[in-house]
Parts: sequence; C-alpha cells; structure tokens
Amino acid sequence: MKVLVVGSGGREHAIIWKLKQSPKADKIYCAPGNAGIAQDAQCVPIGAMEIDKLVQFAKDENIDFTIIGMDDPLVAGVVDAFEAEGLRVFGPRKNAAIIEGSKAFSKDLMKKYGIPTAKYETFDNYDEAKKYVLSQSVPIVVKADGLALGKGVLICQSHDEAVAALDEIMVDKKFGASGSKVVIEEFLTGPEVSVLSFCDGKTVVPMVSAQDHKRAYDNDEGLNTGGMGTFSPSRIYTKEINDDCMEKIFKPTVAAMAKEGRPFVGVLYFGLMLTKDGMKVIEYNARFGDPETQVILPRLKSDLLEIMEACVDTTLDKMDIQWYDNAAVCVVEASGGYPVKYDKGYEITGLDSVKGRDDIIVFHAGTAEKDGKLVTNGGRVLGITGIGKDIDEARTKAYEGVDLIDFEKKHFRHDIGIKKY
Ligand code: AMP
Ligand code: GLY
Repeated sequence: MKVLVVGSGGREHAIIWKLKQSPKADKIYCAPGNAGIAQDAQCVPIGAMEIDKLVQFAKDENIDFTIIGMDDPLVAGVVDAFEAEGLRVFGPRKNAAIIEGSKAFSKDLMKKYGIPTAKYETFDNYDEAKKYVLSQSVPIVVKADGLALGKGVLICQSHDEAVAALDEIMVDKKFGASGSKVVIEEFLTGPEVSVLSFCDGKTVVPMVSAQDHKRAYDNDEGLNTGGMGTFSPSRIYTKEINDDCMEKIFKPTVAAMAKEGRPFVGVLYFGLMLTKDGMKVIEYNARFGDPETQVILPRLKSDLLEIMEACVDTTLDKMDIQWYDNAAVCVVEASGGYPVKYDKGYEITGLDSVKGRDDIIVFHAGTAEKDGKLVTNGGRVLGITGIGKDIDEARTKAYEGVDLIDFEKKHFRHDIGIKKY
C-alpha cells in the first residue's frame, strides 16, 4: 500500500516510525514532514491546510490510505474532501472533529449524555459572560470556544483575572474567531491522564495511558507549552479506573456521537482528570496527542496500519490489539526561550550515537536540513523516547539520549516521568 501522512511534528514522525514496521506499507509519503521524517518517508512540500493540493496529490500518486495527524485540517474538513473523491482516509469527518473544534459543542454533548465533566456555562455575549464570572467563586476557568493552539484556556485566580481573560478572548480577539464564544467552567483539581483510543464510529478501544508535562520548566513552573515530555503508562490509571472510564466515558461518548449523526472514526483523545468525585473529562481531541504518541506507539505490538484500516472499515470489534508490557518516557529537547521567543538554525549533533538502538528512539519535530546539516527549526526540536521495563529504566534511557544529542541553547525538563502521583 501507498500511505500518506499529513503533518510535520514529532507525532507524525512517531506514526511513520510505526507504519514502517508494517509489511503492508510499501511506500510512505509525508506532507509536509520535516528533516527527520525525510529519513523515513518521502516528504512532499504541501502544507497540512492545503486540502485541495493534498487531495490532488493522493489522486495523482494513487495513494491507498491517508492518515491525518493534525487538528486544524480535521476541523476544516480534510476527511470529507478526501472521501468526496473516493479516497480512503483515517480521521474524523468535519462533523465529528467538532468534538475538539468547539468546546461549547463538547460540553453540551457531555451534559446531554451525562458524561462526567466540570460544570460550565457558554456565552457569546460579553456583558452576560462578565456578569456570570463575577457571580462565581474563584479560581475559575475561561476557555475560548475554538482551536487556539492549546493556548485558549485561562485559569483565573481572581475576578479581575477572569474579566481580563474575557477581554482578551472576546474583545481583543486574541484567538480570532475562536473567541466569539466562551466556555466558563468550574475549576477542578487532580492528576491528569491522557487516554487515546481507536474508534470506528461504533467500537472504542483505549490505548495504553500516558501523562504529559505541559509547563516549560522543572516542577511544573513556567508557561504552558505544547508538552515538554510524556510517559506511559500512567501510575494512577489502574485497570479498575479504565473499566470505570470505559462504561462512564469512552463508550457513552462514542455512542453519543453516533446518535447525533456524527460517528467518530479515528483517534479520540480523552483528556481526563481524576477528581475527588471520580474521573472527569477535561477535553476531547480528535487526533493523536503530541508528545503522547511518542510514548504510546513504541509500546504498540500490533500493526498500526491494520488497526487504522479496521477503523475506516468499521471492523474494529474484530481486532485483537496487543501492547508490550513495558514503559516509555519521552523528553522534549526544545530551543531555549520556547514557548515565547527562540532562535532557529543551530546545528544538531550526536544523532548518530543512538542510531540503530531500539531502547532510544529520536522523533523529530522542529528540524530542517541546511547545507547538508541538520539544524533546529522550531520550538520543540526533538523528542527523545527511552524504552525500558519500567518508567525508571525508560527515564534513564531517555536522558542518556538527551545527553548525547545536542544543540546550542538546548532546553529540556529534568523531571519527565517523575510525578508525585
Ligand atoms: P484543555 O486545552 O481544555 O486541555 O486545557 C488545558 C489545560 O488546562 C488542561 O490540561 C488542564 O490542566 C487545565 N484545565 C482545563 N480545564 C480545567 C478545569 N475545569 N479545571 C482545572 N484545570 C483545567
Ligand atoms: N499533548 C497535548 C495534545 O496533544 O493536545
């Protein structure tokens, strides 16, 4: 089969790394990819949002199967565009990707179907939103309705902060059209777990659990980022909790989407928080997580392409998905200054020293080739995944890789995989 993967981050590199192990994947393309992906797939210079060009490329090259990694094209309807041309594509249609694309939609869905989540109200009128936040206790959470590069969630410690958040989102339009509506939500506390799942519209199969470290600096200090590192499995996510989530969250969500005429096909990512009242949904994503994928897929024993085909063919209930009984830790090497301001173009050294090892895997995110050298080309540059029998061993391997692979102004967290819970 000829397979096309759409995206350019560490997540897409991990998907391609796993697809390469499939005997069914004869040729893998990536649009647009990055310098590391180019070592594992043929990169084509088409942006992830250039939907017409992607469809044309898939037709011209007789691509058998396309996998969409990123959220923006999914929310914009890339899957519908492929299907309209009779092309096979893995990911939710526009009317299902809305579960990530609109927080108001996802909250209303959860309310309607009794899926546990934080209490909330939605507003498209600034004065009403302001009146409401002032009537609530703090901390309180203000969220822009639409996609905002993971930055549209503001946790407000005071009423002044909450009003400032509304100003930013609804008046200054900091997140553009994403902020024409807001969700104002009760503040919850507890450890967070990411559980990604395969879905075929009817059946949902959770993957192994993961936890993300979102803040830029050690001990969860500094600004929120796209994710500075992950580990799998989560220590708090027991089999009992998984069984409970299956009945109260995973199956009800997939059934609700089907009932609404929006069958969800693809990867449905449940962002969960273990509160004192049990597990609650913090958010849904309509795709693989980044950098969760970099610890989850190395633990998958089964053929990823076969699973994805089963999702598209609605035969997921027939699949027996197997995982390794091991652990993985991914440490992100970022450019100093990320997530605010950082330089690009520094040479990356040491990659050869881990080549061929199966206990240290390097996934490229922001890298490029310049004059025959690999250079930094983004905030998150590389994800170094260590594999071991448990988290401690996987951590040791990941940091061994981090020591070996270097570039100027390299920044990484030292505490990935260490959580108090
Ligand atoms: P989201 O983009 O919805 O995942 O939100 C980003 C982060 O904000 C989450 O991972 C949580 O850490 C935090 N967050 C979101 N909603 C709440 C809430 N209701 N209570 C506490 N923290 C929250
Ligand atoms: N790591 C969080 C996400 O992919 O949304």
